Order: sequence, then structure tokens, then C-alpha cells
Amino acid sequence: MQHYATLCQHLQAHPQTWLITGAAGFIGSNLLEALLRLDQRVRAIDNFATGYRHNLEQVQAVVTPQQWQRVHFHEMDIRSLADCQQVCQGVDRVLHQAALGSVPRSIADPITTNQVNVEGFLNMLVAAQQAGVKRFVYAASSSVYGDRPDLPKREEKIGQPLSPYAVSKYANELYAAVFAQTHGLESIGLRYFNVFGRRQDAHGAYAAVIPAWIGNLLQGEPVYINGDGESSRDFCYIDNCVQVNLLAACTDHPEAINQLYNVACGERTTLNALFARIVEGLRKRRRDLGGVQPLYRAFRPGDVRHSLADISKAQSMLGYHPSHGFAQGIEEAMDWYVAHLQSVV
Ligand SMILES: NC(=O)c1ccc[n+]([C@@H]2O[C@H](COP(=O)([O-])OP(=O)(O)OC[C@H]3O[C@@H](n4cnc5c(N)ncnc54)[C@H](O)[C@@H]3O)[C@@H](O)[C@H]2O)c1
Repeated sequence: MQHYATLCQHLQAHPQTWLITGAAGFIGSNLLEALLRLDQRVRAIDNFATGYRHNLEQVQAVVTPQQWQRVHFHEMDIRSLADCQQVCQGVDRVLHQAALGSVPRSIADPITTNQVNVEGFLNMLVAAQQAGVKRFVYAASSSVYGDRPDLPKREEKIGQPLSPYAVSKYANELYAAVFAQTHGLESIGLRYFNVFGRRQDAHGAYAAVIPAWIGNLLQGEPVYINGDGESSRDFCYIDNCVQVNLLAACTDHPEAINQLYNVACGERTTLNALFARIVEGLRKRRRDLGGVQPLYRAFRPGDVRHSLADISKAQSMLGYHPSHGFAQGIEEAMDWYVAHLQSVV
């Protein structure tokens, strides 16, 4: 943590101007909170496609009024190049999170996924390059490992994409590499592996597994496991994801720039183990939670079977040290959902 702590001190002493896209979403709002706590100047944009005003309100509630004055929010759509160009003016560092997540959403509507995740991404790259931003850090995805079975996943060996979402995220990586070559735009792609934690949306058909299950259990609704429950994921707590974003945005180590990094914990948890852990954790917090069994249903098309990251590249090149393992992260997440879920339904 020494490296990250030093970076935070440095940022506080030398504030920068940041742009966060997707700032009303799960990861974006946590990045916003972290930067404001460090007294940074932030431009935040979102079109509320899958993000919420209450996420911004929750950030406002936990920072000081002075820190909140340093954020300027713009409701805009990254599918407008002109808006992207305007908002990038005078920005030092971009943290690009805006996209339509979810594998099944992309299978149901590949056109919109492509428009936002590929065309919107390209708009942001063009705008960032024209505005002369110093660093463009973007949310890539572990989905690019696709059909490649070997574990742990290492950055240099990807597979065939299994969904339009994975294609869109792979296209981001290709475009970023080309802009580095042709325009010298410094970028870093962060391949997130199942990030979870406070403010991740628990509602709707495309909710991620951890908030969806916690939400369903708290509300007495059934929990479905796709497949036999032995599929596994490398669940990564949000604080680790925030840490890597800031390290990537600020590294001045030339070999660390224009690279891709796995963002994960390096731990594998099966869905059955996850379910047992959540039920046990919620029972401790809510004594009224009755006996619950998951309902098994078919595997979901496009999902990978197992996922586990090799995180040594981010550790050695960026100085990443996960502050939270899965066990600590899931406890903090459950505390947050038990305290907040009712109020945001
Ligand atoms: N959460 C994960 O586990 C995970 C894993 C891999 C990659 N990612 C990527 O991380 C990023 C953030 O994901 P998240 O989990 O916070 O999802 P999220 O849905 O909570 O956040 C995405 C935000 O982008 C906004 N947005 C969508 N389309 C937009 C548009 N056209 N213009 C402006 N804003 C738009 C949404 O309203 C939302 O606030 C995404 O790029 C996602 O693909 C997330």
C-alpha cells in the first residue's frame, strides 16, 4: 500500500483536473468519491442509461461541501462527438467507464452495445487526443479472454470473444493501441474481473450476481444459479479497482504506459461457494432470514466457465496491492447493502 498511499499524498498536494465518464454508475461513482476525497477537480459525465442520480447524491453525502464544489456534472451522451470534445477541454486525465455492461444485454441488443461501447469509446479517444489529455485510462474487461480455458488468465493470451460485449471491449483495446501508435495518446486499459461493492446496482434483469443475490435474499425473492454452480469467478472489491485506476492514471514509468492490466484479486470463488457465503453473512445481519436454497437453471449463453486472473503485471508495473481480498470485500459489501438497499428501491 506504500506506493498508493504516496500517490494519494502527492495528488492532494498537486490537484489535477479529471474527467470521469459513467460517473453515476457503480465504478464511476466510486472513482468520483475517491478523487473528491483527495481534493481533485473533477468533471463527471453520464446519461443515466444504467446509472443513477442517487449514486451522485450518496457521494455528495460523504464528501465535504468544499470537495463537492470541485465536481462539475454534465448530463451527456458519449455518442455525441461534439459533447465529448467540449467536455475534454482542459482535462489532465480521463477515467473512461461509460459503457453498456452485461453479456446478455449485448446478445439481446448488439447494435446499441456497439454504438455506446465502440463508437462512444472512439468519440472519447478522438476528443481526448485532440484536447491533449495526459492519460486515458479505460475500463476494459476480462471477457476478452473468451474461450481460452487456461488459468490463471495472463494479459498476453486472450481467446475468441463469446459475446458482442466482449467484441466491443476488445475493439476498445485495438483502438487504444492504434491511437498510441498514430497520435502518441497515452492510454492504459484495465481488464476488470467481476468488480463488486457499494453502489453496484441490485435491480433489473442485467444486475451482476453479487448485488442481485443479496437484493433477492433481503427481499425474500428466489435466487437463481445459472448452470451447476461450479462456474468460478475472480471477484474483485471496488476499492482495489479504484486503486488501480489512480495508479494507472498517474504512473510515469514509460514501460507501464500503453499496456493492459488484469484488475482482480487473484482468488477464485465458485458460485456455490459465493451463495453459501452470502447466505451465512446475511443471516448474521438479519436474523429473520429463513432457510434458502438456490434454484438451478440452464447455463447462460456467452458466459465463460472459469475465471481467475494473474495480477502480477499490475503488481510489478503499477505497484498494485489489493487492499481487500474477496472475504473482506464481501463482508463490507453486505454491510453496505443491508444498510442501503431498502432506501434505494
Ligand atoms: N462491474 C464489473 O464487474 C465490470 C467488469 C468488466 C468491465 N466493466 C466495465 O466497467 C465500466 C463501468 O461498469 P459499472 O459496473 O460501473 O457499470 P454501470 O452500468 O454502473 O456504469 C456505467 C455508466 O455508464 C453510463 N453510460 C452508459 N451509456 C452511456 C452513454 N452513452 N453516455 C454516457 N454515459 C453512459 C451509465 O449510465 C452508467 O452510469 C463499464 O465500461 C463496464 O463495461 C465492469
